[in-house]
Amino acid sequence: MKKVWPIVLLIISVLIILVGILTYIFFMGDKKMDNTTINNEPTKEIIDNKPKEENNVDQLKKENYFIAKNLDRYLNYLKKHPEKDMTEIIRCVNANIDYEFYTNTVNSNTDDDILLIVNKYHRLSSNYVPKLVEMDDKYNYNKGYRMMHPTAYEHFKEMVDAAKKDGIVLYNVSAYRSYDTQYDLYNEYVKNHGKEAADTFSARPGYSEHQTGLTTDINTSSSKANFENSKEYAWLIENSYKYGFILRYPKDKEYLTGYKYEPWHYRYVGKDVAKYIYENDITYEEYYAYFIDNK
Ligand code: DAL
Ligand code: ZN
Repeated sequence: MKKVWPIVLLIISVLIILVGILTYIFFMGDKKMDNTTINNEPTKEIIDNKPKEENNVDQLKKENYFIAKNLDRYLNYLKKHPEKDMTEIIRCVNANIDYEFYTNTVNSNTDDDILLIVNKYHRLSSNYVPKLVEMDDKYNYNKGYRMMHPTAYEHFKEMVDAAKKDGIVLYNVSAYRSYDTQYDLYNEYVKNHGKEAADTFSARPGYSEHQTGLTTDINTSSSKANFENSKEYAWLIENSYKYGFILRYPKDKEYLTGYKYEPWHYRYVGKDVAKYIYENDITYEEYYAYFIDNK
């Protein structure tokens, strides 16, 4: 019996040593993996653990039209609209859509000249009258609305003449409208359609781009009906930017411009700006915020 004890002790010792070796291998293995993580780029898991707001800021800053002074507004708008991607957040806030229409309004900067912006956040005073010239009958259908800014008119004529060579007939039906004219027009629409509806297609007095003289409602005759399906409209969509005009209220951009699609309403902004807006498919709100107001 005495001879059994040394064997039992030997087995116990061997077991203790084995457990020790296994424990050592297990812990050192883990340590090695930790070192690998430290020496390399952070893993995806670590990025995901970065505070959400920091990630959002990084993503926003990478966007094309990011404006530093709008950062807090981007973040607030994103909180309200987590379904929107960063590009949309930037577009909306740059167009001021995070504010209710006709709130946070400022005076339009008339020093911007042909790049002046007028919309639901930028207004002209009731006595603002731009430089104006009278349009020739050759270019105008509607005698009551025949005044236009001279630079815009010069290029409007160029455009109408070029269209004619392609067999396309274009007329101005409404260019400059005074504050008082817009007042009457808007109130007539409110009377007939109610304020909410009127606001989707007519500007309140002081907030109409027509008061700049840089805008023209175009048609082949006096009527705006069905212009969207005309060959004149197709020509304008392809060519108006070459003469410095942009389609101001495009179909899929109502949420940015604040107005229903107006296939007849063109705004003169100069050839370079019009080309940029056409090629990059942005609204004037977005262009103005990034390239003019952001200086
Ligand atoms: N219809 C445009 C938006 C205006 O009233 O100026
Ligand atoms: Zn118009």
